Amino acid sequence: MEAILAIISRRSTRKYTGSVPEKSLIEKVINAGRHAPSGGNSQTTHFIVFTDKEMLKDLSDIVCAEFAKMEIIEGMYSSLKASIIASKKGGYMFHYNAPVFIVVANKKGYGNAMADSACALENMMIAANALDLGSCWINQLHWLDENEVVRGFMLEQGLKDDETITGGLILGYPDGELNREPLERKGNPITWV
Ligand SMILES: Cc1cc2nc3c(=O)[nH]c(=O)nc-3n(C[C@H](O)[C@H](O)[C@H](O)COP(=O)(O)O)c2cc1C
Repeated sequence: MEAILAIISRRSTRKYTGSVPEKSLIEKVINAGRHAPSGGNSQTTHFIVFTDKEMLKDLSDIVCAEFAKMEIIEGMYSSLKASIIASKKGGYMFHYNAPVFIVVANKKGYGNAMADSACALENMMIAANALDLGSCWINQLHWLDENEVVRGFMLEQGLKDDETITGGLILGYPDGELNREPLERKGNPITWV
């Protein structure tokens, strides 16, 4: 797919078939993330890849249980609030049951940690679109980065002590046709001088 079209037609996918894409396809997506630019060419973005259904279920259960313990605070970010409310009801699946979940982490205290991770995540989402795969940025683990239980689980899966979870990506085959209809641009103003 032509590059500009792959960018313009990328949309978030939240419904997936259960099948895990071939490893070579997942690797292509991750490779696109690894080739993102980074501040000072630091290349410290770390990708932790989940493809095991049981493991993803365990993580999802932990996330649901930890959100369920949290209280809603006035002025809280609406998506975080929604995650807490859904978790208190039970059965919340932060990853929409996608077959692949890639946690993105970077060095604690590194000023470009989030910027570098965002570049990697966007590269991966565009690559996924070009490969006819669905994807969506998933932020729940970023919000729970300092949660002892979630962090403990992630440390067991390869997260390093000196790393912070900056974001995540779900990936897989869309359940139905891949939505490539761009959303209307209602913001993102341009000022030509
Ligand atoms: C920083 C960031 C965090 C996001 N976090 C989530 C998330 O946790 N869960 C989710 O379903 N979508 C998440 N999204 C996806 C946005 O909701 C989505 O990009 C937006 O609604 C525009 O839709 P589109 O991606 O289909 O163009 C996130 C996107 C960004 C850039």
